Amino acid sequence: MNIGIDKIGFYTPKDYIDIVELAKARDVDPNKFTIGIGQDKQAVPRPYEDAVTMAASSADSILTEADKASLGLLIVGTESSVDESKSTAAFLMDLLELPEDIRSFEIKQACYGATAGLQTAYDFVSQNPDKKALVIATDIARYGIKTPGEVTQGAGSVAMIVSQNPRVLKLNYKSVYMTKNVGDFWRPTFSKTAFARGKYSNEIYVDFFKTLWEKYQTKYSATIDDFSTLLFHIPYTKMGTKALRTLEGKIPDDKYAELTEHYQQSIKFSREVGNLYTGSLYLGLLSYLINGARSGEELLMFSYGSGAVGELYSAEIQKDFASGIVSENVLKMLNERKKMSISDYEKIYQIEYQNGTIVDPEAVESKFYLSEIKDNERLYKKNK
Ligand code: HMG
Repeated sequence: MNIGIDKIGFYTPKDYIDIVELAKARDVDPNKFTIGIGQDKQAVPRPYEDAVTMAASSADSILTEADKASLGLLIVGTESSVDESKSTAAFLMDLLELPEDIRSFEIKQACYGATAGLQTAYDFVSQNPDKKALVIATDIARYGIKTPGEVTQGAGSVAMIVSQNPRVLKLNYKSVYMTKNVGDFWRPTFSKTAFARGKYSNEIYVDFFKTLWEKYQTKYSATIDDFSTLLFHIPYTKMGTKALRTLEGKIPDDKYAELTEHYQQSIKFSREVGNLYTGSLYLGLLSYLINGARSGEELLMFSYGSGAVGELYSAEIQKDFASGIVSENVLKMLNERKKMSISDYEKIYQIEYQNGTIVDPEAVESKFYLSEIKDNERLYKKNK
């Protein structure tokens, strides 16, 4: 049975900051941020947006009534959860008007969560071929104002429907994975912002990629000629480049040039949005599908979540992949965003709604929003 991604939806907030303006405000050479880090813009969520509202928006952009009726599983991968107990998935039931006979839960393992969700969805559909699964990656990446990580922040969500006979991507179920207890990046429960050993995290990421590629070649007698594209988790676009460069000189030059060209196509959207944490690999997939992909291509996907878990797996682009993504809507969303000044971004960054907050619906620009915090419970609404 062929199982994989049948549709992909995407959401990112309507405001962004310009990375050159951020560099100037931080007294940094803009080339460091645009070339050294490889970013152009960074999504800025409003205080009434969070992991729940962004997940609702990305899923809402693809779910039909027929999809809802056949859903049996809903998994949300996130490290930006709004509740230590209730899952992001449970909040989505009302917002997306989903039927109640669904198994649903949240997965956390830094940026690896959505990949764990996809593999679980694969197993679910293989046991329940008439059912579909919805896997959503949703996160707000925050390191804090004037920190080294600030330039690598971002926000957004990617939703994927997993089914048999998928239109977009067949998962080959060829996969290698590894876990190590590593202190490269963490966010304690008391903190809204992450802590990172930045340079160390880069080393671990590259080491995981190298180890997993060795393992993949051994396990499946594979060579680089089996793939035309490598997609990476993209915390910032230079990071994938660093991993790709480990192959330079070890594979034929024309193959390296092909992989580099395809990587550039896969990072176009991430340059515009920033780190989505667990959605980043899948934003790279979406970017590649819209900006470069050809049907029948074999992809190698590198998922990495700090802490740390890595997985390298292969997938095949399907004949009708373009019918499972609404490219015009994705491009419209990215192009119609508004630039926010650095001082406004800094003000918005400090706002944290407390118990008793009631949000004025007239001031809300997104379809789904946090409407109220009552008795310390977060309540959400859908804009008509
Ligand atoms: P930094 O110390 O500000 O930057 O931190 P740097 O000094 O290392 O410079 C960055 C690059 O810019 C260097 O290039 C410089 O040479 C270059 P590289 O050596 O890396 O190729 N540079 C310039 N280039 C052109 N013109 C110039 C110029 N000046 C310097 N004038 C760092 C950078 C990424 C470490 C920081 O932003 C950070 O800590 N970010 C957060 C951590 C992170 O993203 N780590 C990635 C791996 S871990 C991961 O992917 C998981 C994660 O997504 C979380 C999760 O799993 O949940 C983060």
